Amino acid sequence: MPPRLRASLPCLTAAALFAFALSPAAVAAEPRATSDTPLALTPPMGWNNWAHYMCDIDEAKVVANADALVSSGLAAKGYDTVTVDDCWMTKSRDAQGALVVDTVKFPHGMAWLGDYLHDKGLKFGIYQDAGSLTCEKYPGSGAPQGGGADHYAEDARQFASWNVDYVKMDGCNLWVPAGQTKEQAYRGAYNAVAKALRESGRDMVLSASAPAYFQQGEWGGSDWHKVLGWVGETGQLWREGKDIKVYNPATPAASRWSSVLGNYGYNRWLGRYAGPGNWNDPDFLIAGAPGLTAAESRSQVALWAMMASPFILSSEVSELTSQGLAALGNTRMIELDQDPMGRQGAVVSSNATFEILTRPLANGDRAVAVLNRSATTRDIRVPLDEIGLSDCTADAQDLWNGSRREVSDALTGRLAGHDTAVWRLSPRGCAEAAPTGQVVGDGARCADGANTTGLGAVVMATCTGAPDQRWTLRDDASLRLAGDCLSAGDDGLVELADCAPPRDRRPGQSWTHLRGGALVERESGMCLTAPAAAATPDAPAARLRLTACGDHRVDQAWALPV
Ligand code: GAL
Repeated sequence: MPPRLRASLPCLTAAALFAFALSPAAVAAEPRATSDTPLALTPPMGWNNWAHYMCDIDEAKVVANADALVSSGLAAKGYDTVTVDDCWMTKSRDAQGALVVDTVKFPHGMAWLGDYLHDKGLKFGIYQDAGSLTCEKYPGSGAPQGGGADHYAEDARQFASWNVDYVKMDGCNLWVPAGQTKEQAYRGAYNAVAKALRESGRDMVLSASAPAYFQQGEWGGSDWHKVLGWVGETGQLWREGKDIKVYNPATPAASRWSSVLGNYGYNRWLGRYAGPGNWNDPDFLIAGAPGLTAAESRSQVALWAMMASPFILSSEVSELTSQGLAALGNTRMIELDQDPMGRQGAVVSSNATFEILTRPLANGDRAVAVLNRSATTRDIRVPLDEIGLSDCTADAQDLWNGSRREVSDALTGRLAGHDTAVWRLSPRGCAEAAPTGQVVGDGARCADGANTTGLGAVVMATCTGAPDQRWTLRDDASLRLAGDCLSAGDDGLVELADCAPPRDRRPGQSWTHLRGGALVERESGMCLTAPAAAATPDAPAARLRLTACGDHRVDQAWALPV
């Protein structure tokens, strides 16, 4: 952690760490990492065997891929952490309780492997599980089923003795003691893991899998949101959901594109949890590997970079396609992913065809990406004011080919099916960008100001990308749509109403977005609440309202523009 950041941490109140006003300036100034270690200030990068080899792993394969990271130039570009996933050990501990390396697979042992990687300038990562058994039923670090002593401290010390730099701590088979909820048991276990690593005497990045064991669909349930709320106190990165589809040598051509879109789908709404030392992990990069086309490979790299996701390859590095390798090794894209401000990008607009994302960057630039979900080539056009850059021009660099152009009103281009365009915009002639785009809530639906159910009504609707879903966050804490302010109205409803001038701001027009996702109306302290989905498709959409704030209610969690 840079000294400036470390020095500023003790002065922050808990409230300041967890809440931020809608002001973009306030957001940018706050270090949002909750970890107390200086680890992983940018998203980790590297390689892991799982999505290509699963349990069919050995020393020769790890070494060959590590060598290929170096010879391909990827290691020098930052892909430096080589992680051995599940199935590296024998099925039982030794008489002293230590984990035993499977020396048929790893004849020189793990200390040797660590030395080999370190000699190449790489880092060493290893897999373990916070439950009683790993997902493939090797000995886990956690308490046995039925209760008893765990092995967190001794396993952490064993890893430290092998000079491990990164631990992927999975969450299969975790014992839930009587009297605890599953969520409490995971919290206790991951806190203990983090403590054991901290006290091991060696800095080891912790990749925690806890949230993945609570995922229910794209918007998740209350427990998932609770876990996302605390997991950053334990790990520097965390898996929130489903695995990326693994390579199957029996069906090498099987498409894995829908798996990429699925993981992108759940990760895109969680940007509020990300920041230096705290990263959402939508799982491995399989770009350039069997199952993705060149365009799809580019899209995965681009979307992961927009979301400040860990860049962890899981493929056979020497067999990557040349186009996949070019996308993964694109230094402009890597720089985007690794931007030191560490703010995850957000979705500006989405519909069945296009998805537009923006991401504010440390030097004041903004990245913009357009995903073409359709299978055919399309013309694209992104007006600058729709991405928060009103009244300015921008120098736009196409991050794929490095070309630059001056844009005065809109980014335009042609985009192949399943491909993603990415630009880095340096705005000229305007103040800081105003975060603009969708406000997304329960069911990944959009807050919509269409006048369907009454003057000023705000309802939830399928996201369309249309202007009645284009909100702007202003630094006076207002949330505006087409010039009107989201306001507390009668009968607990919210509505769009004239914005009072800032000095005598009408009560009910100022909002605070909390880290857990709640959008709190400041006057009443009540939370913006999404209505239940309509029972039938043609039932009139129910309106958004203010209700008492609950504990991680999914209908009170909101993803906002950045
Ligand atoms: C899963 C995890 C995978 C891999 C596997 C090993 O739970 O998501 O990435 O680690 O376990 O058994």
